[in-house]
Amino acid sequence: MLKRFVILGSLVGLGFLISFGIARAIDPPHNFSGDICGNCHMLHNSPGGSLTKNADVNNLCIGCHSSSGTASNKPFDPADQAGPGVSGTSHSWTGAMPATSSQNNQYGLRAYADLTNAELKARLATFCVKDAGGNCVTYKVACPVCHNPHSQSVTPWDPTSPQTYTFGVTNGRHMQRMANDLNQMCEDCHFYRVQTHTTVEGPGDGIKVFSHPVGQKLSANSKGYDRAAPLDVNGAPQSGARFATDGTGETNPTNNLVFDGSSPDNMVRCLTCHRVHYTDSNSLSIHQP
Ligand code: HEC
Ligand code: HEC
Ligand code: HEC
Ligand code: HEC
Ligand code: HEC
Repeated sequence: MLKRFVILGSLVGLGFLISFGIARAIDPPHNFSGDICGNCHMLHNSPGGSLTKNADVNNLCIGCHSSSGTASNKPFDPADQAGPGVSGTSHSWTGAMPATSSQNNQYGLRAYADLTNAELKARLATFCVKDAGGNCVTYKVACPVCHNPHSQSVTPWDPTSPQTYTFGVTNGRHMQRMANDLNQMCEDCHFYRVQTHTTVEGPGDGIKVFSHPVGQKLSANSKGYDRAAPLDVNGAPQSGARFATDGTGETNPTNNLVFDGSSPDNMVRCLTCHRVHYTDSNSLSIHQP
């Protein structure tokens, strides 16, 4: 009963906002002119969750984010989705979360019930696959699980993203659902991939799916395996706070490894090696092997 009341309440709220045209802050580049909300929402008989226009919310996004849409410079095609070691240039936007948490999950994923971020959980529930009784049976990742199409307020990983965000003015913040500057979003779902120098060397912690450590600094870490700075293809050390820019004049930024902004320690994170979209290799790593 309480649940039904809350859902009804939020739908009435949405209708109110749209029909009375009350300005809800919506950030560029999604603040198109004209019927801003109507680009994505419809008030009556809407086929999608949160009164969105498409039964499959990914089709709403791809409607513009395609080679023939208004966001043709950021296109997505369902065939772009990655299968590890097979093909693909983008993180999956249809893959299912596992029903139970297990360290043996191929992707290191844990179940919906065990995620910690309330925003991620709320959107996984909005776009879940339901049974006849309306209960979620499968939780699937989707574009607006990871992205908030209304807001650019939280910080992404991308070192070229503007560091000082001015509400409603600055683009390039990638509209993240939650802050991902330390890859918090990746780590919440891919929980069993979050390993330290110590856990990868085991044994004793019960974690068996060994993975490259994250949250470790390169320079003067406790293991002593690593260079102080990674090398560029020309053999010179990469430079710059996050190794994103190369002071030696090397002009190919795509071969730079980027570390997090936890200066001075600048740690290895998932996105040091992986990219989310528009990769040039499978398993979403930065380069072809
Ligand atoms: C680019 C597409 C897009 C535009 C433009 C857009 N929305 Fe949304 N909106 C979505 C999607 C997708 C969801 C469901 C996912 C979510 O909750 O973020 C949503 C959810 C909502 C919700 C329910 C969840 C919440 O955040 O409270 C409200 C209310 C809402 N939108 C209002 C608006 C209003 C008002 C406008 C116009 C000022 C607008 N939206 C413009 C895509 C859009
Ligand atoms: C698993 C989470 C996830 C899913 C699913 C996802 N994205 Fe992303 N997306 C991200 C992250 C994280 C970034 C920012 C990467 C960074 O900071 O370097 C991003 C960046 C982007 C960008 C900016 C890319 C650029 O090069 O400027 C666009 C556009 C985008 N996503 C659209 C989409 C669309 C459309 C979908 C669905 C078809 C989608 N995303 C699905 C996580 C996701
Ligand atoms: C009505 C058209 C339209 C729809 C629908 C739409 N987008 Fe966009 N989106 C755009 C345009 C235009 C841009 C700007 C592209 C550019 O200039 O690089 C953009 C940019 C983005 C960016 C990059 C923002 C930045 O500054 O880095 C993300 C992320 C994004 N969209 C996600 C989504 C998601 C997720 C959905 C579905 C919920 C969606 N979009 C639906 C038109 C749309
Ligand atoms: C909301 C949960 C969620 C988040 C957040 C998330 N992932 Fe995933 N990820 C998945 C799911 C589900 C799959 C499995 C897709 C499938 O079954 O093919 C996956 C698959 C992958 C794969 C294997 C290739 C593929 O797409 O199938 C890689 C690599 C990956 N994720 C990296 C990341 C990184 C890096 C981040 C942070 C930017 C991230 N993921 C954020 C749920 C998530
Ligand atoms: C030191 C670089 C590096 C780091 C850091 C890293 N990965 Fe990977 N990851 C790779 C490479 C390379 C592959 C491809 C392995 C292969 O094809 O056998 C991969 C494969 C994967 C896969 C595909 C499944 C598989 O085993 O092939 C997933 C999922 C994944 N990584 C998630 C993550 C997540 C989540 C993080 C952060 C917690 C992370 N990775 C950190 C380099 C890295």
